[in-house]
Amino acid sequence: MNPIPVNEPLLNGNEKKYLLECIDTGWISSEGPFVKQFEEQLATRVGRKYGIAVSNGSVALDVAVAALGIGFEDEVILPTFTIISCASAIIRAGAIPVVVDCDPQTWNMDVSQIEAKITPRTKAIMVVHIYGLPVNMAAVLVLAEKYGLHIIEDAAEMHGQMYQGQPCGSFGAISTFSFYPNKHITTGEGGMVLTNDEKLADRCRSLRNLCFQPQKRFVHEELGWNFRMTNLQAAIGVAQLERLDEFVARKRHIGKRYTELLIDIPGLQLPLFQTDYAENIYWVYGLVVNDDVPFDAEYVMHRLSSYQIGIRPFFWCMHEQPVFQKMGLFKDVLCPVAQRIARRGFYIPSGMALTDEQMEQVARSIRDIFK
Ligand SMILES: Cc1ncc(COP(=O)(O)O)c(C=O)c1O
Repeated sequence: MNPIPVNEPLLNGNEKKYLLECIDTGWISSEGPFVKQFEEQLATRVGRKYGIAVSNGSVALDVAVAALGIGFEDEVILPTFTIISCASAIIRAGAIPVVVDCDPQTWNMDVSQIEAKITPRTKAIMVVHIYGLPVNMAAVLVLAEKYGLHIIEDAAEMHGQMYQGQPCGSFGAISTFSFYPNKHITTGEGGMVLTNDEKLADRCRSLRNLCFQPQKRFVHEELGWNFRMTNLQAAIGVAQLERLDEFVARKRHIGKRYTELLIDIPGLQLPLFQTDYAENIYWVYGLVVNDDVPFDAEYVMHRLSSYQIGIRPFFWCMHEQPVFQKMGLFKDVLCPVAQRIARRGFYIPSGMALTDEQMEQVARSIRDIFK
């Protein structure tokens, strides 16, 4: 059997042509024209006024938190079931992450738990759309309005996704994307911060660029970072963005086909096809092993790896991270739903270049394990 990678991007559009343009013109740094083009085109697609391209989706969150002025002892509410980038951006700003559990069906933050976590120190809700379905934004928008909180929308996994007809990445004060190669569109490494607020956009640009000052370049009033995206990365991004609709359709095909192939295997929870507010775009095709099955995700992943099938475990909860426990964070926090899916969940090859034959091979292997 040939190995099946967990993810393989499709780079057979204008990527090579635009990259050659960078080489031929000598524009390879962040000053090149593709960066602005990519920023403008993604912002337009998402319905935002400003896009600020950065080096990856993790630092996009650092910039977003810092730009909002979130700092010492402020609290930010986020899902425990997410990538560490979300919590680390909050902690690095000197603020305190406060987690909520997730929904057992969508795997997104359980929005019914947010209000009880709001205190006078709460400054923001960090919404993270997980694996292909958006968070139930209506409830979050009501709470943000009621308590005067910022929404930071981590749309890293949501290129092309809509929530009730409104693009993901267009909610709240500020939103972020990642363009790692497992995303719907990639730049190799890359990210973007988006907002409608001109002052916030200026602040993000400054933070991304070491807080150089326009008049006195090497005199700094504040500390920033070098989180700039290169023209080479943006060139790939522009080419990828041209195909976003096609890529979303491709992912939906993968989701549909896997569902047909796996639906009758007892003991496996499949991703929801849709909710009241969105249709799944299957950033990854996640599976959760039911409680009555006498093995967990680790066993299934081990077996699939032995068939050379690329797999990844689900996220590990923020409140169970050794690094945060050593910092004294999340004492006595329990999130049973997220703790369970972190142990019983994994995802299977879901990349853009995946073929129908490969999906059938993956499904046959899973069937073999569950028989
Ligand atoms: C929800 C979410 N946020 C942030 C990130 C971080 O993005 P990056 O890998 O580009 O740093 C990821 C990466 O997969 C993600 O899934």
